[in-house]
Amino acid sequence: MATRTQNRSSSRTSNRNTKSRSDDSGTSRQTARSNSSGGDSAFSWGSKGSGALVGAALAGAAIGFAANFGRKFLMQSMSGMAGDWDEVLAAEHDAAMAIFDKMLATDASQTFKRGMLLTKLTHALDKHAHEEEMVVYPALREANEAHDADLLEGEHGYIKTFIYELNQMGADAPNWLEKVREFRDLVHKHAHMEEEQVFPRFKERMSEEQNARITNLVNRDGFWMA
Ligand SMILES: [Fe+2]
Ligand SMILES: [Fe+2]
Repeated sequence: MATRTQNRSSSRTSNRNTKSRSDDSGTSRQTARSNSSGGDSAFSWGSKGSGALVGAALAGAAIGFAANFGRKFLMQSMSGMAGDWDEVLAAEHDAAMAIFDKMLATDASQTFKRGMLLTKLTHALDKHAHEEEMVVYPALREANEAHDADLLEGEHGYIKTFIYELNQMGADAPNWLEKVREFRDLVHKHAHMEEEQVFPRFKERMSEEQNARITNLVNRDGFWMA
């Protein structure tokens, strides 16, 4: 449903268009004639120059798409190489821990590096949480493990809260390292519970087909989030 502001603005635009059509009708007809007779207007789609431009833009978009697709493929292959879904997720836990360790090795003068590492960590945790929240936790609930799924998903909320707080406080804040340490502890505890209790128990009860299906779904979700 359009908002009041949108309605107001579109009605203004349509009035303006009607006015300009009646005032400039002569000019418009002239422009239309010049375009239809092969004039080289910059907005003419039929002219040779613009055809080349459109071609170049499409080629650029195709290269961009291919590059992004290649990057996603590489990113997810790196996680996917780990094996089954639980191993993929454990490898991502390790990767997140490595980013935390780099963050903890910085000092207050390295604000740019801290910012870059926080961005990298945010992206890694976001992709990881998406795989768990869209595939693994729903599968856990389906297998009557809703209690664990809800508890773990609730902790993801606090992980996002830490990211929010770190973004708010600025990379040169005196308690930045302390906040990162608390954040790391929470992620470590959370990952430990998944890796040592919830995931092995769940996997033990799975058939080979189920295991392959969950692995496939986690990889697919990770690919689009990479
Ligand atoms: Fe998790
Ligand atoms: Fe996890």
